[in-house]
Amino acid sequence: MLKTKISIIGGVGHVGLPLAFSLASKKFDVTSIDVDKKKIEKIKKKVLPFKEKGLKELIKKQDKMSIRFTENYNFIKKSKIVFITLGTPIDEYFNPNFAIFFDNFEKIIPFLRNGQTIILRSTVYPGTTRKIEKILKKKKLKIGLAFCPERISQGNGVKELVNLPQIISASDNKTYNLCAKIFRNLTPNIIKTNFEEAEVTKLFCNTWRYLKFAIANQFYTICKDKNLNFEVIRNAMMYKYDRAKDFPKSGFAAGPCLLKDTMQLSAYSRQLFTFGHSAMLVNETLPEFLINDLKKNKKIYNVKVGILGMAFKANNDDIRDSLAFKLKKKLEYEGCKVYCSDIYLKDRNFVSTKKILNTCKIIFIGCPHDQYKKIKFKKNIKVVDCWGFI
Ligand SMILES: NC(=O)c1ccc[n+]([C@@H]2O[C@H](COP(=O)([O-])OP(=O)(O)OC[C@H]3O[C@@H](n4cnc5c(N)ncnc54)[C@H](O)[C@@H]3O)[C@@H](O)[C@H]2O)c1
Repeated sequence: MLKTKISIIGGVGHVGLPLAFSLASKKFDVTSIDVDKKKIEKIKKKVLPFKEKGLKELIKKQDKMSIRFTENYNFIKKSKIVFITLGTPIDEYFNPNFAIFFDNFEKIIPFLRNGQTIILRSTVYPGTTRKIEKILKKKKLKIGLAFCPERISQGNGVKELVNLPQIISASDNKTYNLCAKIFRNLTPNIIKTNFEEAEVTKLFCNTWRYLKFAIANQFYTICKDKNLNFEVIRNAMMYKYDRAKDFPKSGFAAGPCLLKDTMQLSAYSRQLFTFGHSAMLVNETLPEFLINDLKKNKKIYNVKVGILGMAFKANNDDIRDSLAFKLKKKLEYEGCKVYCSDIYLKDRNFVSTKKILNTCKIIFIGCPHDQYKKIKFKKNIKVVDCWGFI
């Protein structure tokens, strides 16, 4: 017998889709609602809309599950549970963009009815859930509200949904128990907090990661300035030394979450979060550092330069906020003729790996996809690799 009817708003996004299939595979009746027609059509044809481990197998099995993909908000009315996995961006000044989330929420309101439960799963600015609670109250909607943050790492959602503990904050005990019952189908580990604690926990998690990457990147730049090998030092630090075992590698710290959430935390702390700003300065200026370092020994004006890998993360096809594009822009500003390539991305402006290897005397590793490890670079090619990859 099928379990509860669930709809997921933003249901074909990077958070929504793995959640939809994970719940459907546990026999929930799931409707993924999204404005992205193209992605919906792809999924219906059993084509992966983005790289995600374990999702290909689930998409193929969709006919055996009670799952559907639609743009139609009317399905919300029929659902007992409404997940919201919409994006929560920051603006061009690094401030949280509240309007997008609340405007989207307003569109959902006409389809809500008493007795439903809303589970917010987007990463939100602290206080957002309380604001949503007030909006529901004002509309006289008797709806249980929960904020249950998603903490998956992009591309690993299907696996991590069943491995990570789930934080649940809810408006009342009944809603908490219902959420716990649903999530226990995915993970046995549940943590109970209030709204604000859950919201801040999520921001702390991402900000902590972003700061760790920034430290690694700053150490990397120190090593470059002093002509030292960062990788050798990193290995020496970490070898059989548990206190340094989570010290990250250097490389572009980018993507749709880490910088955004660090800046949300900064806005929340009334811009007193100076560590966050320092981390942003280190991570965001790494492309410029690499170019300046290169220019110490090489003329780059009018030179053909290649970038291998444009995604923000290895073995992934997501380009959101990828620093490889910032690198491209800066190189062009320096007068280079830039060729971009990525084995996982189709873009008419990109060229093949082969073309880059045959054309460019300087090649940057923009994203360390495993496949690039096999490349044997010619001796006369200068490879710029901030990842310790080659
Ligand atoms: N990507 C990750 O790994 C990750 C991990 C944890 C948390 N988060 C958080 O989860 C949230 C979603 O991130 P994401 O990466 O899944 O974003 P995404 O852009 O991949 O997905 C959002 C989806 O919402 C859809 N959408 C936009 N407006 C809509 C509307 N009005 N109605 C219906 N659908 C609409 C988009 O078409 C898209 O498919 C963000 O707050 C993010 O910070 C992301």
